[in-house]
Amino acid sequence: MTKSTISYFALFLLSIIAQVRSQVCQNVGQYGQCSVNSACGCFHMANADDTGVCGFLWPSCSHLSPCNSANNTCQSSDTICVHHPRCQNSPVCYPVSMIDQRVCPPTTTTTQQTVVTSTTSIPWSTTATTPVQPKCPRLITFDDILNAVRIPQPIPPGYSGFQWVNANYMNVTYHEQINGLSGYSNALTSGHFIAVNKDGQNLHMINNAAKSFSLKSLIVASASNNNLILEITGKRGGTISNTRRITLQMQSQRVDLDWSYLDTVSFSAEDSKSSAKGRETSFGIDNLCIEFTK
Ligand SMILES: *[C@@H]1O[C@H](CO)[C@@H](O)[C@H](O)[C@H]1NC(C)=O
Ligand SMILES: *[C@@H]1O[C@H](CO)[C@@H](O)[C@H](O)[C@H]1NC(C)=O
Repeated sequence: MTKSTISYFALFLLSIIAQVRSQVCQNVGQYGQCSVNSACGCFHMANADDTGVCGFLWPSCSHLSPCNSANNTCQSSDTICVHHPRCQNSPVCYPVSMIDQRVCPPTTTTTQQTVVTSTTSIPWSTTATTPVQPKCPRLITFDDILNAVRIPQPIPPGYSGFQWVNANYMNVTYHEQINGLSGYSNALTSGHFIAVNKDGQNLHMINNAAKSFSLKSLIVASASNNNLILEITGKRGGTISNTRRITLQMQSQRVDLDWSYLDTVSFSAEDSKSSAKGRETSFGIDNLCIEFTK
């Protein structure tokens, strides 16, 4: 690509991306690394195959509309037209808030920066895009933990009628400010808080408030690793009554279970590449829907 086309694209970005500091990635493959945040990658511009913008890799596909096919433009000025073949074959309108350097801080050497002065704040909440659940008898949101602090801490015993083992609460909004977007951002469905499995360990919730409970559904996403295997197990009196294995992605998913007569539910994540538990096997859970048996 010649110098003049490069500056053309820099200008093009300058004119479109008002108010965000974004980063151009050049000669980086589609989804190639362009930021210290591993949740970011290079999105090729619709009209140029080796120039792109560095953005968050996991926005919800259903929120990206196709670009105008005649001229690869987007109607809304807070989106730009990029390739995102994991979502759609044709180019999509991608939110400029997700190419901000506060989301995807640059790796200093390999990339060229487009500097635009910014005064606006980023609408972080646009990334919490999971659809609202239908009416739930008892929704555990992790947003009503008394005296919750910003740093992840164990979920207090008795919260919502359960003993929690290897379960931390996390203020995702704060986590984003420090670490940038991650799968936790996608797991966040309500408020600021989610539950996470401490150090990637197996998480257990043990009922201590009723005879038994039903687990209806939950929202879950892997923190930083795609294709984790999550095994959810329901038990009563030490006997396994239900098991479900799902493949976890950084994109959030809703898991419908509708299991009843439980006293314990366990969540165990496994990375296909290694048996170690740690950052790789961390996940976030929000909006656990349960019902206590009367
Ligand atoms: C792109 O095409 C649409 C309709 O075909 C038109 O309304 C719009 O003005 C065009 N945009 C540019 C920048 O040419
Ligand atoms: C969560 O973090 C956000 C961002 O730092 C902060 O505004 C909010 O007050 C925090 N919530 C709690 C309960 O600490």
